[in-house]
Amino acid sequence: TPPELIRNFCIIAHIDHGKSTLADRMLQMTGVVSDRDMRAQYLDRMDIERERGITIKSQAVRMPWALSDNAYALNMIDTPGHVDFTYEVSRSLAACEGAVLLVDAAQGIEAQTLANLYLALENDLHIIPVLNKIDLPAADPEKFAAELANLIGGKPEDVLRVSGKTGQGVEELLDRIVEQIPAPRGDADAPARAMIFDSVYDSYRGVVTYVRMIDGKLEPRERIQMMSTRATHELLEIGVSSPEPVPTQGLGVGEVGYLITGVKDVRQSKVGDTITHHRKPATEALPGYTDPKPMVFSGIYPIDGSDYGDLREALDKLKLSDASLQYEPETSVALGFGFRCGFLGLLHLEIITERLSREFGLDLITTAPSVTYEVTTDTGDLVTVTNPSEYPDGRVAEVAEPVVKVGILLPKDYVGTVMELCQFRRGTLLGMEYLSEDRVELRYNMPLGEIVFDFFDHLKSKTQGYASLDYEPAGTQIADLVKVDILLQGEKVDAFSSIVHREKAYAYGTMMTERLRKLIPRQQFEVPIQAAIGARIIARENISAIRKDVLAKCYGGDISRKRKLLEKQKEGKKRMKMVGRVEVPQEAFIAALSGD
Ligand code: GTP
Repeated sequence: TPPELIRNFCIIAHIDHGKSTLADRMLQMTGVVSDRDMRAQYLDRMDIERERGITIKSQAVRMPWALSDNAYALNMIDTPGHVDFTYEVSRSLAACEGAVLLVDAAQGIEAQTLANLYLALENDLHIIPVLNKIDLPAADPEKFAAELANLIGGKPEDVLRVSGKTGQGVEELLDRIVEQIPAPRGDADAPARAMIFDSVYDSYRGVVTYVRMIDGKLEPRERIQMMSTRATHELLEIGVSSPEPVPTQGLGVGEVGYLITGVKDVRQSKVGDTITHHRKPATEALPGYTDPKPMVFSGIYPIDGSDYGDLREALDKLKLSDASLQYEPETSVALGFGFRCGFLGLLHLEIITERLSREFGLDLITTAPSVTYEVTTDTGDLVTVTNPSEYPDGRVAEVAEPVVKVGILLPKDYVGTVMELCQFRRGTLLGMEYLSEDRVELRYNMPLGEIVFDFFDHLKSKTQGYASLDYEPAGTQIADLVKVDILLQGEKVDAFSSIVHREKAYAYGTMMTERLRKLIPRQQFEVPIQAAIGARIIARENISAIRKDVLAKCYGGDISRKRKLLEKQKEGKKRMKMVGRVEVPQEAFIAALSGD
């Protein structure tokens, strides 16, 4: 297809605003999926199938659409919706010339929509504002058309009104995509340059790479090169998804499609990288490529130590399909053998732990999430700390912590409560804007470390679920941070060390010592539980000793019962961790970490 007849677009929408349903209607109306084969959420279904290794999820779908006697090819490119995957979103957007901004006509704009809209504007995309679900009785298109027009500039009447459910307005939307979104432009005679905007692991076909051609042409059977690594591969198959993969004789300027090279690991085909010919390579890679950088770290441990090998295998498998997952072995006094893992954000952490337990049947405990600190020592060395145990105790001159720019969208009634929460989390207010009469956007600078610790939960409960949140990295700042250690009878318990702001050290110390006092059983001797900053004790609790006469009673009685008891105790011992002389059931550590 010549570039003049191609339109590349994506749909930006908040979760549940109806992206999948609208995509279904488009597939149906363009005839890509016959009415007979139509099932609800066609593309989503493929996702589930892909998990079982049956089909490949279409990250992009090509649809024919005729307008004024011209046969156009529309490429709809899927964007991941969530904040943790901003980089992937930005690459998907970079593959498009336009975006449909889809907003629920009964809900209005949400934080996630806004964040992705800003990204789309940064990428110079043409925005088509659309209100969805206008068939709903609760829809208020007048109000939200004004909100949208106000946000992106333009007139409320220009905001399209559709229903993905009934199909109303969808043809008009397809027409508008052709009329308004610019055709792709590129140099057909230049050496090939294709941008990877997604890379999906498939258990049968290996890695399937989704690309947007910028310049030149790629053809089957030729040797290609990844510009970031210079690695070369043979192009086994190249084609378009519509939505099932259809091999073609190549892809030219502006086209969107998939390719297969036989690589087995998505790390060999990285999102954002540029693909070129091996023989006649392009001299310059496309802009915008970066390696995914983990922002949040956590220790993951099997609850049953004998599952360690299985955990390692499971992580190795997940890595094939997730280029941003990082991990290395780690040991902990309290938790035994496990892995230190790096994630793009909290949702990413949740997805991985969920998959580990759901797909691999592992029982796991994760330590409190931590962020990356840049510590300058008194001798001027720079130490990167992703685990409190690496903190250079007693030699710290200065600590820098990561900061994020946070956007929160909420009904105006909750502004006071949420501002209080943000302030408590050391946020600095950057701005506040009314999107409509009753909806407000709050913008804050906030330490990432304050967000990874149950901030979402607090935000949701304080606004009865009405607030939505988004964040993006915004550099680092120097802060007055300290490491708080928790000691059992003078021995450090590594899994509970935490780097916190000095003003919050005391609160953290008393919380953890109290928690552990309640959870750790009494011993033959008194056990002090202390919280300390370096050598200075800031909080203390005591577990008093078991009294002698109680013991005596225990050991009386008949001999067989006693043996049974002893055997039972032995079994229990396997799960016991020794911290110095103190015996602690692992459950106590786990309960203390999960923070009930
Ligand atoms: P995620 O895949 O979770 O991000 O959601 P989504 O944005 O793809 O939304 P989806 O298409 O799954 O729709 C969310 C809900 O809204 C579903 O229950 C749909 O049936 C419903 N829905 C979608 N479009 C319409 C519409 O035009 N009218 C009405 N009444 N309901 C709709």
